[in-house]
Amino acid sequence: MSKPVVFSGIQPSGNLHVGNYLGAVKHWIELQDSDKYDCYFCIVDYHSLTGNRGADERREQTLTTAAELLALGIDPNKSTLFIQSHVPECTELAWIFNTVTPVVELERMTQFKDKSKQQTKNINAGLFTYPVLQAADILLYHGELVPVGADQVQHIELTRNITRWFNKRYTEYFLEPKPLLTEAPKVMSLLEPDKKMSKSLGEGHVIELADEPKVIENKLKKAVTATTGGGKAPGVDNLLLLLEHFADGDVCQQFVKAEKAGKISYSELKGVVAEAVASSFADFRERRAHLLSDPAVLKAQLSDGAKKARVVAEKTMKEARELAGIK
Ligand code: TRP
Repeated sequence: MSKPVVFSGIQPSGNLHVGNYLGAVKHWIELQDSDKYDCYFCIVDYHSLTGNRGADERREQTLTTAAELLALGIDPNKSTLFIQSHVPECTELAWIFNTVTPVVELERMTQFKDKSKQQTKNINAGLFTYPVLQAADILLYHGELVPVGADQVQHIELTRNITRWFNKRYTEYFLEPKPLLTEAPKVMSLLEPDKKMSKSLGEGHVIELADEPKVIENKLKKAVTATTGGGKAPGVDNLLLLLEHFADGDVCQQFVKAEKAGKISYSELKGVVAEAVASSFADFRERRAHLLSDPAVLKAQLSDGAKKARVVAEKTMKEARELAGIK
């Protein structure tokens, strides 16, 4: 019996932060370790071409992201971990999908609208067809379940539509994938806790998994806890959320109680959060350093992943070409 195919992708943005971990990678590892799925995890470097980064930075960040996923527990013996561009069939399938996708449907995509506002000087066509490439990623491997955050659900809906448009125009071939929405805790920025934690806000806003304990401690010292105008402080909630996920047992509860009683010490809370996060990723930091110390071994692992992926991708592409009347 073959297992349902899980597919997900992540942009190579360099060091992952705690929001990426709790929101995505932690769940990927659970899916992998459940043994119930055939998992594909892809580092989407073609997608990253739609942003502003330079070539050297992209190359380095792609490798770092791969090392971090492995160091966190993505196991190449259980999952297929690979770099998107190592399986160039996805761009070919994306082209075919471009020709069944109405422009008006892409114009509705909120991520496109957001990114167009963020990079006003670089609204390239790739940004516009980004979700079509995403559909190709998923369907190349006949992905059935796609673990994503809420912000990607619209893209998965589009993937479902692309499946229908292709099948209607040619032959019933692709299956409609489903988003697997995880109950992901929303980790907020340390400095602007009304915004989602994101590297684009700047260094001090995020805790990177690779941060040394001292760095984490310093970032937390500057974390915002006060509110203006009373009421609940989102910065405090955010720190409690981190405790809930990274500290043992009832540590979080103790602080919640102290807060309710009005007896909480924010500096103590920050120290405990720093310690909990830093120690949760101590083994990770070691494994990461080890993997990055020998890029040849890391690259060999990724090339094995691509080989596995490519067997499936080539078959799908061959069938899709034939259905579309090419070759
Ligand atoms: N667009 C996704 C993001 O920004 C990344 C991605 C690319 C992806 N291809 C995918 C996610 C396929 C799931 C499935 O997070």
